[in-house]
Amino acid sequence: MILIKTADEIELLRQSNMLVSTTLAELAKFIKPGVSTERLDQIAEAFIRDHGAVPGFLGYQGYPKTLCTSVNSEVVHGIPSEKVILQEGDQLSVDCGVIMNGFYGDSAFSFEVGEVSAELRRLLDTTRECLRLGVEQAVEGKRVGDIGYAVQQHAESNGYTVVREMVGHGLGRHLHEAPEVPNYGRRGTGPKLKKGMVICIEPMINMGRRQIKQESDGWTIRTADNRPSAHFEWAVAVDKGKADVLTTFSYIDEELLKQSN
Ligand code: MF3
Ligand code: CO
Repeated sequence: MILIKTADEIELLRQSNMLVSTTLAELAKFIKPGVSTERLDQIAEAFIRDHGAVPGFLGYQGYPKTLCTSVNSEVVHGIPSEKVILQEGDQLSVDCGVIMNGFYGDSAFSFEVGEVSAELRRLLDTTRECLRLGVEQAVEGKRVGDIGYAVQQHAESNGYTVVREMVGHGLGRHLHEAPEVPNYGRRGTGPKLKKGMVICIEPMINMGRRQIKQESDGWTIRTADNRPSAHFEWAVAVDKGKADVLTTFSYIDEELLKQSN
């Protein structure tokens, strides 16, 4: 069953997702060669608690940390560690969740560490465009397959592949609600979108083949061919005519712009 959220519930979801947006922007200040992903996790946990929320992933199905930090060929669910030190030219997907006032926020951004190759930058840019194109489809009357089609079409026409095993999801009082939101699909298929549904759209796009493997830590998902993978995620409320986006990357973009000046 796909829940329809009230306007009040959507405002609470917006607050939770805005806190994730500001947490990711806070992390942007520290994402540099030499920092460990464990340090980023500590910064995120403190920031979230200072803002009256609790980490959303910590303890979820036994997950041990606040963030998922996935470097280069890691697709998602990389576990922060003192042993993972970011290097110049890496790309780092940071996925962050919170719970505030009973509602989850969930969003992800793939960051460049120092200067990355043009090849890697194109993967990141294209994946972010995939997210935007998917979000454009999150309007009343369309179907879940329209989102997947838009994402897949853009990824594959740029020579990339789409991860199939991991999907987006509904978001609310639970981190994972119905419906599943695949990043591939056919137009006009899948559940019909209605005003008040809240979903996370999260393309995971690979530079090489689409196949993935699970690491022995029980969490980390990596590309089977060890080539890079990028991941961006927004929460959106389906609305008439235009999706109501509950996440923003504008704080991150402002921080990154500051750094480049
Ligand atoms: N954004 C991820 C997802 O939607 C986060 C889940 S990580 C977990 O699946 F640790 F909480 F499982
Ligand atoms: Co998610």
